[in-house]
Amino acid sequence: QTFYLKDYKPFGYEVESVKLTFQLSPNATKVHSAIRFTPKADAEDNRFFLHGEQLSLISAKIDGTPVTARLVDGGLECDVPRTSFLWEAEVEIDPAANTALEGLYMSNGMYCTQCEAEGFRKITYYPDRPDVMSTFTVRIEGDEPVMLSNGNPTGAGEGWAEWHDPWPKPAYLFALVAGDLVNHPGSFTTKSGKEVELNIWVRPGDEGKCAFGMEALKKSMKWDEDVYGLEYDLDLFNIVAVDDFNMGAMENKGLNIFNSSCVLASPETSTDANFERIEAIIAHEYFHNWTGNRITCRDWFQLCLKEGLTVFRDAQFTADMRSEPVKRIEDVIALRARQFPEDGGPLAHPPRPEEFQEINNFYTATVYEKGAEVIGMLKRLVGDDNYYKALNLYFERHDGQACTIEDWLKVFEDATGRDLSQFKLWYSQAGTPRVKVSEEYADGTYTLTFEQSTPPPPGQPEKAPRVIPIAVGLLSPNGDEVRATEVLELTEAKQSFTFDGLASKPVPSILREFSAPVILERETTNSERAFLLAHDTDPFNRWEAGNALAKEVRVAMVLDGAAPDAAYLDALEKLVRDDEQDPAFRALVLSPPSQSDIAQTLHERGHTPDPQKIYDAAETFTQTLAQQLETSLPRLYAATTVEGPYVPDADGAGKRALNSRILSLLTRLDGGEQAARQYASADNMTQQYAALAALMKAEKGEAQSKAFFEQWQDDRLVMDKWFALQIACAAPETTAATAKELTQHPLFSMKNPNRFRAVMGALAGNHAGFHHASGAGYQLLAENLIALDSVNPQTTARMCAAFQTWKRYDSKRQAQIQTELERILATSDLSRDTHEMVSRMLSA
Ligand code: ARG
Ligand code: ZN
Repeated sequence: QTFYLKDYKPFGYEVESVKLTFQLSPNATKVHSAIRFTPKADAEDNRFFLHGEQLSLISAKIDGTPVTARLVDGGLECDVPRTSFLWEAEVEIDPAANTALEGLYMSNGMYCTQCEAEGFRKITYYPDRPDVMSTFTVRIEGDEPVMLSNGNPTGAGEGWAEWHDPWPKPAYLFALVAGDLVNHPGSFTTKSGKEVELNIWVRPGDEGKCAFGMEALKKSMKWDEDVYGLEYDLDLFNIVAVDDFNMGAMENKGLNIFNSSCVLASPETSTDANFERIEAIIAHEYFHNWTGNRITCRDWFQLCLKEGLTVFRDAQFTADMRSEPVKRIEDVIALRARQFPEDGGPLAHPPRPEEFQEINNFYTATVYEKGAEVIGMLKRLVGDDNYYKALNLYFERHDGQACTIEDWLKVFEDATGRDLSQFKLWYSQAGTPRVKVSEEYADGTYTLTFEQSTPPPPGQPEKAPRVIPIAVGLLSPNGDEVRATEVLELTEAKQSFTFDGLASKPVPSILREFSAPVILERETTNSERAFLLAHDTDPFNRWEAGNALAKEVRVAMVLDGAAPDAAYLDALEKLVRDDEQDPAFRALVLSPPSQSDIAQTLHERGHTPDPQKIYDAAETFTQTLAQQLETSLPRLYAATTVEGPYVPDADGAGKRALNSRILSLLTRLDGGEQAARQYASADNMTQQYAALAALMKAEKGEAQSKAFFEQWQDDRLVMDKWFALQIACAAPETTAATAKELTQHPLFSMKNPNRFRAVMGALAGNHAGFHHASGAGYQLLAENLIALDSVNPQTTARMCAAFQTWKRYDSKRQAQIQTELERILATSDLSRDTHEMVSRMLSA
């Protein structure tokens, strides 16, 4: 069944209030619901249909009288009065058998829920759609020491607890948690003086991993007040860490539930990257309280209304807490690695899709990350003041509502007087625009001409030109900035912009801060790229110049068997040795483009990427770079080593990132001596992990890998690192075998998404290993996806996307992948989730 945006119809009934009673039992939980419905006078459709899946209906009553409900596909129907009535139902569910981790399920003996997007219908019969909002009162009966739900506690006693959430909400924000939990407490006083009790709830033993998350939460609350003027609206804010979780985290009202990997942190067990990610996700979920909960989505087609905006807000937060340019560079790397391939392949869809079979398949990089890019463009086009003016209007006008992208754009139009009809194409068109740039200089006038086009994804129409904000600055040949950043608005298919009064032909710095999610195509030289790497005043474009240079060098190595470009190696050496430069920036410039990125670049230029050749070029390049830097590496290593107690701040993280890059180069030359010393003396995971990774990459880490296992075998999150690292470091010909062996390991499990992703995600992420000519990587992933599908469809479907780039490769690999995709599709009882993903990949 396919659902369409154009078919939207409001529900015919108002839900006045919801009262739920849970009698908890692992295999037979009873859920009693008492829901007051009032028929809408103006309803176009008064069919009384309630969603429900995998429920055993015990009884149904209307106004106290038993009724017979008709069970239909996906729910039930019932004849109901034309006036307000009380619906009561009792159902039984089996949380312990729920391995899909959607609805009410159990994780390590603890009850928890995940209702977004359509999990509430596995808890009770209900109009499970985001535009149906109501207040919830919840009573939990059971013998669990801690029993939580949304909102404020209203009573508790031996074997029961009651909760009331005064804010009307859609069912997808419902949450319940019960189990043996301990809390790390905190508090926050809001700007209007209200004290909010904060808690992070964890399993006993994890208490020591909560402090960082608590600080991140307080910083988020303060930041949202300072920057957006938004205050928290309940007396209590709870976060719970759960080991078995399909996604990162969930913004349930007043009761956020987190994948434990996205909240638990300690210096001994978490890397700098983990700390940064945890801080960002805590902020993201907290920010949803306004952008998502107070203002929610009318239907799931509007998902990017809350996700794009909330990702945009959490990126602003991270930029403010840490380094703005570093955050931007990291985000663009991620966008190109995850969203561009999606947008250019068979799974392409606009940020606001118009059809889906399974909405869980649309929690994508396009909805989230491109959704956030679209908001960044909007902000750049209207300016900061107008942006916040529009946002104020959004909160004022739509608080308590379930909204659409049209509502969102309308507040910008009303606040700024700007016509956004062309801008709206960003929401409705799929595909990454390509922007071709050419230049002309004569008599002091410099002209930039842009041409935009978007290759239409199969089955989609020709694309109309979009509004593309292009931030441009000009540099003189001696490196001075002669024109500060200016935003050019490209609105036509082809358009020119001129700059007068220039003394000589300038060097342009185009798409500063990556002002639009496009592919820029411009004929330029490596010496101009090196010039920008040295002189651009925009840090993003300085990095971008280095990145483009690195790509050119690597592409030339792959295509012509060229040696690594000497001028580039010199430029790198100069930058790495320049202690005036920010270490985090140097670390980024020193991190080569990923092999999959090179494959994508080759594909964009009409070549068929050969993963083995790309791998060999990467190896040769890194080895040559190590040799070039040989004499300075020991000094650089010493100079970038961070002494003293570990602090997970941006400064330290930047230094450690550079130090780790240098260690990995050094390890190629010194037989692993320095890395072994670092491994032995490390008192934090960042340095321990960096040393282990360097050693394993050089095939010198067997002893340390064993020791690591011994030390950390009881820590599930650290063990995920151990599983993933072995596969990430494996040579192409042994990657699949390594992954296969790890699936036989006693600690491997299909039931824990983190562990499954650690192994299968690392397999898919090892470009040359996954795409090894034997086809063993494809086969292993397909086998495991087939096995996982009956356990956990959502995670299976998500991981199928590893195959989305298949049309990039040669016909032999395409045939191998096609065989695997067809094998998956032929599996009996394949889930709707996986079926949709695989058939989309096959049909394009
Ligand atoms: N709304 C959550 C977040 O972005 C993601 C939950 C998605 N869950 C799902 N089953 N698709 O913070
Ligand atoms: Zn979100």
